[in-house]
Amino acid sequence: MASATVSGTQVHFVNAGSGSPALVLLHAFPLHAGMWDAQIAAFSRHRRVVAPDLPGFGSTPPLPGSGAPAMADFAALVAGLIEHLGIGPAVVGGLSMGGYVAFALLRDRPDLVSGVVLADTRAGSDSVEVADRRTAQQAQVAERGTADLVETMVGSLLSDETRARRPDVVERARTLMSVNPGAGIIAALGAMRARPDATAELATIAMPALVVVGEHDGPSPPAEARTMTDALPDARLEVIEGAGHLSNLEAPEAFNRALDTFLSRF
Ligand code: MLT
Repeated sequence: MASATVSGTQVHFVNAGSGSPALVLLHAFPLHAGMWDAQIAAFSRHRRVVAPDLPGFGSTPPLPGSGAPAMADFAALVAGLIEHLGIGPAVVGGLSMGGYVAFALLRDRPDLVSGVVLADTRAGSDSVEVADRRTAQQAQVAERGTADLVETMVGSLLSDETRARRPDVVERARTLMSVNPGAGIIAALGAMRARPDATAELATIAMPALVVVGEHDGPSPPAEARTMTDALPDARLEVIEGAGHLSNLEAPEAFNRALDTFLSRF
């Protein structure tokens, strides 16, 4: 893994391949850049692929300061990394929380983005129920550590099919989640809870967009992905058969096919 100091934070990131536009991949909660291994292996053959560990995940430390970070702070770090590497404008892909970061980047630094992949994510902000669940999860992690949260997430993010038939993927997801420290997880839960609603902004995202969703995605269901696709001026929807919320891990070949077709536009 490479690293660079961006705004005082030592950001660790996978930095593979060459060729532009670069593909920047933003991971889901509570995983890290390792969730993109299958995409990095496939796409770094023809272009630069950069996948950062977002603050508090993998090898990147939480953002400095005592206040709770916002999605905009995560996006500022990604913007700083794109500028530091001189790879903008790039195609930016985010899965779930990575998509929330992509929305914040599009809001604050659209000049750094030439195309966007929104995978298993949602434009809307948290419902009261989801916000309350995040608050309870913060308390749970603070009191008991991350193990229970990880098991809950393994249960809710993967499809029934993946859990029944793909023990290797279940174990990989568990490992990707288990290594992250509680402090980063608590901070990200707060940042997700406070994120603004991006629904009204969809119509202004004029660049090419790919919306990807697992057929059985519970947290960000296909119906929401369809609504988001309809609201975007230049978007295509790909539904990944048999996959749940972590569609790139659960069905890497289908996910990569969709991404490859999209990238051929650049
Ligand atoms: C994720 O996969 O990043 C999370 O499910 C996002 C969320 O909790 O909203």
